[in-house]
Amino acid sequence: MRFIGALVVWIIIGIIAYFVVAYTGAYAVGADVPHWGITRQAIGFLRDHTTEKRAADIRPPPLDDPALVKEGAEHYAQMCTECHLAPGMTGSELREGLYPRPPNLTRFAPDPAESFWIIKHGLKMTAMPAWGKTHDDHKIWAMVAFLQKQPKMSVAEYRALTANATRMEGMEKEQAPAPAGTAMLPPASSIY
Ligand code: HEC
Repeated sequence: MRFIGALVVWIIIGIIAYFVVAYTGAYAVGADVPHWGITRQAIGFLRDHTTEKRAADIRPPPLDDPALVKEGAEHYAQMCTECHLAPGMTGSELREGLYPRPPNLTRFAPDPAESFWIIKHGLKMTAMPAWGKTHDDHKIWAMVAFLQKQPKMSVAEYRALTANATRMEGMEKEQAPAPAGTAMLPPASSIY
């Protein structure tokens, strides 16, 4: 009984503390102030173990097919580079202000099954979107196939693969028709 009484008191203290912090504006919700070390570790631990567990039953298909890699490169060029960079890119204004900072996927090849899960479902409380709402599994595997090759890809190879990918293609369904006389954005390949 005593234990339950103490627990209830702590829960009430916790709830009061929550409202005090919220109403006084004491918590740094801005993306330009890093988490405390312990908060960052707790979130990282939860994310790593949860994605590992949820991806445990995912069996990647063969990812070496050059056509699949090319298709993935095109999707990647359209939707991912502002956050995750690409061969030949050194930074972007969007990525600079994000917290957590998206990993630079030109530097390492992420685990295929876990990447598939993360690309499909996104990650809450980060800027990583759930692409499964707009892309089928085949397209997501194509991006995973590309991610396996990207760290060893030269700028010239990347540009050749994405020469036909335009930045706007991925968003074409959401696009309102451009007013007469306005130019479309240039193809991704001419931007960097
Ligand atoms: C608006 C920014 C943004 C966009 C656009 C974005 N991502 Fe992410 N992505 C993130 C962030 C932020 C993380 C890391 C979250 C974290 O630290 O927990 C992430 C994580 C990932 C990871 C996990 C990497 C690892 O460490 O294992 C993969 C894979 C990934 N993204 C792929 C993609 C792909 C493919 C696309 C395009 C279809 C994409 N992302 C578009 C922000 C973005």
